[in-house]
Amino acid sequence: MPHFLDLKDFSKAQLRAILAEAARRKAARATLSKGEPDKDQPLKGKAIALVFERPSTRTRFSFEMGIRQLGGEVFSISGAEMQLGRGETIADTARVVSRYVDGVMIRAKSHDTILEFASAASIPVVNGLTNLTHPCQVMADVQTLEEKKGELSKLRVAWVGDGNNVCASWIEAIGVMGGSLKIGCPAELPPKPEFLAWAKAQKADVQVMASPQEAVAGADCVITDAWLSMHDPDEEKARRHALLSPYQVNDALMAKAAKDALFMHCLPAHRNEEVTDSVFDGPHSVVFDEAENRVHAQKAILLSCFAK
Ligand code: CP
Ligand code: NVA
Repeated sequence: MPHFLDLKDFSKAQLRAILAEAARRKAARATLSKGEPDKDQPLKGKAIALVFERPSTRTRFSFEMGIRQLGGEVFSISGAEMQLGRGETIADTARVVSRYVDGVMIRAKSHDTILEFASAASIPVVNGLTNLTHPCQVMADVQTLEEKKGELSKLRVAWVGDGNNVCASWIEAIGVMGGSLKIGCPAELPPKPEFLAWAKAQKADVQVMASPQEAVAGADCVITDAWLSMHDPDEEKARRHALLSPYQVNDALMAKAAKDALFMHCLPAHRNEEVTDSVFDGPHSVVFDEAENRVHAQKAILLSCFAK
């Protein structure tokens, strides 16, 4: 099945084709209002379900609007409303759902859920965030970065803060498409070793370091994310804040990056924790372009699933 589970599952040519389609579709909508359909309707007659085991603003809005613009039917359901929590297996759920809809996007608490679902499904499955990765987000991020700075393979990206799920998809993006990634994170919160081992096997230019200043030095783009992700227990909050406060993206840190560096954040942001208002609202920030590009990137992702 042509699923969209993780960026490492794709070739550079495949990801570049998705990004090109995302840019083409975005340009073609320049004069349309958000509710107007695209000129073509490639998802006409197709129904796609969005399943959320965790809350969402961007993922839900962007998938719903994108699918409608492509002419598809869409509805959202929370995992708690399904029989999943009451003992029906993930594989049986996937087989049943495959009889009703043509595709499904899942935001899952556990990455294993989405892998198990995808292996039993006979329809395309798209990863809308798990505890381990967030590939749709990073495709929108790469689209945003390339709009302003040119091709990723020539760029220096800095990740500052928690080595979390979004960071993991960034490692995979760099491993597949090229470019360099410096990750500045506390020794206690690095990316999971399997992502770093995979990057090493690809000979990707991915480095992990403790110093946020070193990570951002000369970077074309500085990225951060929340200090506590949805899968992190609340009891970890105090410890994480103590470990991560030296990694706050503020004016002093941005000044170490290239003069015209971008600031990116997948959102939701916790203002004046991982990023100061001055950076978030300042001239380097492209966070709302990133949010918008979720629509365009995900339309291209869905079309790639249905094209095969
Ligand atoms: N960035 C992102 O995925 O946002 P939501 O959690 O609001 O969907
Ligand atoms: N790392 C964050 C991303 C939210 C879109 C989380 O998993 O909560």
